Amino acid sequence: MAKLLSLLLLLFIITITAEGTMSSYGVYEESNSIKLFVFGDSYADTGNSLNSSSYKPPYGMTFPGKPSGRFSDGRILTDYVASFLKIESPAPYSLKNSSDLKYGMNFAYGGTGVFNTLIDGPNMTTQIDTFEELIQQNLYTKTDLESSIALVSAAGNDYLKFVLVNGNNTKVSI
Ligand SMILES: *[C@@H]1O[C@H](CO)[C@@H](O)[C@H](O)[C@H]1NC(C)=O
Ligand SMILES: *[C@@H]1O[C@H](CO)[C@@H](O)[C@H](O)[C@H]1NC(C)=O
Ligand SMILES: *[C@@H]1O[C@H](CO)[C@@H](O)[C@H](O)[C@H]1NC(C)=O
Ligand SMILES: *[C@@H]1O[C@H](CO)[C@@H](O)[C@H](O)[C@H]1NC(C)=O
Repeated sequence: MAKLLSLLLLLFIITITAEGTMSSYGVYEESNSIKLFVFGDSYADTGNSLNSSSYKPPYGMTFPGKPSGRFSDGRILTDYVASFLKIESPAPYSLKNSSDLKYGMNFAYGGTGVFNTLIDGPNMTTQIDTFEELIQQNLYTKTDLESSIALVSAAGNDYLKFVLVNGNNTKVSI
């Protein structure tokens, strides 16, 4: 019963948050210094795959109304996590400029995995190395990191590559 109640409460919170963010990524608070750093694949990528289909219709038609680099017609996990933290969705690394660092950074790249996949994009190690470079450049400080959260998505591109490369000689079901 307690579980059901908390589930209902969670759904309620999700509903409120979704309604409260119809016109933006999240409920934005100037004083909120939490940063979100995102790594992984298309489940978390909000615009790093610059020349991919994510920038073509019908992606993005529900939100933000035109293709925006998300492999979805609407918001993705990153946007929801950011809105729960009451910050805007962090800028995709591929589009970054000096004025949009304050919500963190999104390094996730559609089609990638922990290992190299069939997509020519940065794997998990490379994404994390890129983040470390930004820290070395002091774009993010130790204090920033103390109030930051990491979101990591490894949804299955490593398995997909394995299956496609090994064909039907291997018994795998996904
Ligand atoms: C994307 O396409 C543009 C030209 O349309 C090109 O200059 C650029 O190098 C491409 N970027 C990637 C990451 O392939
Ligand atoms: C910085 O990038 C954001 C998108 O991430 C964009 O909205 C903004 O206009 C850019 N600012 C400059 C100065 O290029
Ligand atoms: C990640 O990519 C880099 C650069 O292509 C490569 O050197 C490294 O071996 C890859 N890591 C894994 C775990 O596949
Ligand atoms: C599965 O095996 C058959 C017979 O060897 C072959 O013709 C087919 O191309 C294989 N499929 C894949 C996905 O490798």
